[in-house]
Amino acid sequence: MPKILITGGAGYIGSNTTQLLKRRGFDVVVVDDLSRGHKHNVENVPFHKITLSNTAALVDVLRSEACDAVIHFAAYIAVGESTQKPELYFTNNVGGTLSLLTAMVETGIKRLVFSSTAAVYGMPKTVPIPEDSAIAPLSPYGDSKVIVEKVLHWMDQFRDVRSIVLRYFNACGADPESTLGEEHDPETHLIPLLFRAIETGKAITIFGEDYPTPDGTCLRDYIHVVDLAEAHVLAVQKLLAGGSSDTFNVGTGEGHSVLEVVRSVEKVTGKKVPLAFGPRRDGDAPVLVANSDKLRKTLGWKPRYPELDDIVTTAWQFEKRHIAT
Ligand SMILES: NC(=O)c1ccc[n+]([C@@H]2O[C@H](COP(=O)([O-])OP(=O)(O)OC[C@H]3O[C@@H](n4cnc5c(N)ncnc54)[C@H](O)[C@@H]3O)[C@@H](O)[C@H]2O)c1
Repeated sequence: MPKILITGGAGYIGSNTTQLLKRRGFDVVVVDDLSRGHKHNVENVPFHKITLSNTAALVDVLRSEACDAVIHFAAYIAVGESTQKPELYFTNNVGGTLSLLTAMVETGIKRLVFSSTAAVYGMPKTVPIPEDSAIAPLSPYGDSKVIVEKVLHWMDQFRDVRSIVLRYFNACGADPESTLGEEHDPETHLIPLLFRAIETGKAITIFGEDYPTPDGTCLRDYIHVVDLAEAHVLAVQKLLAGGSSDTFNVGTGEGHSVLEVVRSVEKVTGKKVPLAFGPRRDGDAPVLVANSDKLRKTLGWKPRYPELDDIVTTAWQFEKRHIAT
């Protein structure tokens, strides 16, 4: 079976994808510097604690492990932090990727799946958002992904590096068949923050209740992490079969408002979420929902967890196990 190098495999989406690849019979090897990930997420896989900027170490791993392709998750992911420290985000997300690509060129590995984001679209004019929407990021984080997408375009043209860019919407949920789950620190994502509000009794602030949406709160496309992992398996298979470079949205195509997610969490947990309302945040689009037709038609992707209550249930199962340990 082909061997896949996974950068950022100690993080949330990377660890889930690593486990799914293993279940599908791929050989895997993870590289992560554990700056934001967790050692316990890589306990049962070959793991190298390496930071992306260390090109020579990446060359060693790619060569000694005889990798066939790379899935590149490693990045910093917090939009707010990126507005406070843009230089950190460009250094890590862009600089780190350039180092990885340099190592790939040096070792002759020419297939890459890249984690991009719906944040590249900024305030989209058309929703659901197709892949050919205008690219207009509103944060250094979003722009760090846009820059890498541009680099990948040129690497395809002049270095024959074939890449599939996956633009994820809101990753969430947990795999019921594993012990993995969402453990960002600090956590900025809605579902775990709602659990935290229940556990601590401290109200969670909902930013904006006057958006042009049915209940006034923002609509987002919540995509289960297992369905996201599946998109990576399909993408890497396509590249390994000689497929050309391409870009896909990964989302369900369904939008849910913040208050709908709150209601789902209350239904699944049987507990009331303490809420407070605050002003809108700069840069929050009212609606971010994927048009994922291309992914479905081209790669045959279909979500296993399209229902919000099922997503929240799997996340809550993880949360309960996590609190208990
Ligand atoms: N979580 C989401 O909803 C979401 C949405 C869109 C895109 N993404 C993208 O998906 C990818 C994974 O996100 P996640 O939620 O799993 O994040 P995460 O923080 O859980 O995982 C990222 C991992 O990358 C590692 N890492 C960061 N910089 C590194 C470096 N220089 N060298 C080596 N390792 C490094 C971290 O230690 C961590 O384990 C990121 O590229 C992110 O931008 C995530």
